[in-house]
Amino acid sequence: MSVKKHIAIFASGTGTNARKIIDHFKNHSDIKIALIVSNKPDAGVLKIAKEFQIPNLIIEKEKFFRGDAYLSELKSAQINFIVLAGFLWKIPSALIAAYPNKIINIHPALLPKYGGKGMYGHFVHEAVIQSKEKESGITIHYVDDKYDHGSIIFQTTCPVLINDTGDDLANRIHVLEHEHFAKIIEECLQK
Ligand code: GAR
Repeated sequence: MSVKKHIAIFASGTGTNARKIIDHFKNHSDIKIALIVSNKPDAGVLKIAKEFQIPNLIIEKEKFFRGDAYLSELKSAQINFIVLAGFLWKIPSALIAAYPNKIINIHPALLPKYGGKGMYGHFVHEAVIQSKEKESGITIHYVDDKYDHGSIIFQTTCPVLINDTGDDLANRIHVLEHEHFAKIIEECLQK
């Protein structure tokens, strides 16, 4: 009998990606979403965790960045792989060292453009529209110690339409994220 791989999803917001990922793996024979981690006690993703009866962990800045990065909590939940799905804090190097090539992030634009500190959610979409890009998309990448920098696993594109608002583009990007993220996670875990 194979031992299931345990994923922790880190998220700061609504959690529509987290919901899709949870749904994708809910009856999976080898992979389990074992923990939802959030830095925001009122994040929507925590309601999703409750709905699916997945344990959650609310993290505090001091312990995350200057303490042990919650390594003991992650180890006791037997976490093998970490997925960032709209998680807005930088990942401390202690965590990267403990999970080498086992932390992935989704970014709502075509990196290396429109990444870096402060580039999240609507700030990304507004910058893309402001620059009159004709195309945007999603990037799924390994996480290293620089924002939005690690090696790219997958990208796909969508058009930016002439009268798009940030919300229009965000919705189009979410469709791509929901279509691809869980499948790419599964591929990464089966390597
Ligand atoms: C997603 O679009 C994700 O790409 C983005 O936050 C959103 C979270 O949505 N992440 C970043 O901007 C990271 N720099 P969700 O809470 O509905 O899954």
